[in-house]
Amino acid sequence: MKTKKQNYSHLSPQQPIGIFDSGVGGLTVAKEIKRLLPHEDLIYFGDTKHLPYGEKSKDAIIEYSTKITNFLLEQNCKAIVIACNTATANALNEVMQSVAGKVPVIDVINPVAEKVAYEIHNNVGVIATKATVNSGLYKKSIRKHNKFIKVDELATPLLVPAIEEGFKNHPITHSIIYNYLSNAKLKNIETLILGCTHYPLLIDEIKQYYGNRVRVIDSPNIVANHLNIILDKYHLLNTSNPKPTYKFYLSDITKNFEKISKKFFGKTIDLELKVL
Ligand code: DGL
Repeated sequence: MKTKKQNYSHLSPQQPIGIFDSGVGGLTVAKEIKRLLPHEDLIYFGDTKHLPYGEKSKDAIIEYSTKITNFLLEQNCKAIVIACNTATANALNEVMQSVAGKVPVIDVINPVAEKVAYEIHNNVGVIATKATVNSGLYKKSIRKHNKFIKVDELATPLLVPAIEEGFKNHPITHSIIYNYLSNAKLKNIETLILGCTHYPLLIDEIKQYYGNRVRVIDSPNIVANHLNIILDKYHLLNTSNPKPTYKFYLSDITKNFEKISKKFFGKTIDLELKVL
């Protein structure tokens, strides 16, 4: 979704950026934001109590996403990053309504779909949660910009629980990946979109399966770049913050979240239980 020409003069570059996902997945986006925008304060909400979102109804995903959005607005965030494909696919309009034009909203599907539509000219595969695939949003968004691209989407619901369990480099994860990627739907693809922010945590295993045959899109990088462009456009980039802060709220504190957030953000992260 394009951010409308807005007046954000009530916001200041010093305010934090709010990011949310159901769990550790959004950390792949947060990490890229930190790398690209190293002076920004970040507030992350991981809704670990309710994951996986991919198995929930649209109504439940809307309820969780709008509550978190309101919470991030209360924390004075200057932008909201929906670092979750499932929330984007099922609750983007409702999140936009909650925000009511007060801050820019960046999602993880539209910037990726637009880039792929303009830069890729071959068969594209998308792997994602059930709720994302059922929405058909990737196909719609890509084909809106380029109707000649063939897009095949496959639901891969076992990956999120495996990632949340910390099964990286594990035989179980290898066989799940092999099973899904050898599906006939993905047989002729030349490009793969990881349509769930959890999946970049398994990017090595996924690339290993394909060798050099398939190009895997770096969605977190595309999203972080898009955020950079939007903040710059509205003069909201923080470029002079010597000690940026990273605050993490979790609706259920899990060992795996602690482990991955510490790996990406350092040992002394500020992690707090918050049930909305
Ligand atoms: N990381 C999420 C996504 O991008 C959500 C996965 C889930 O909770 O099912 O879709």
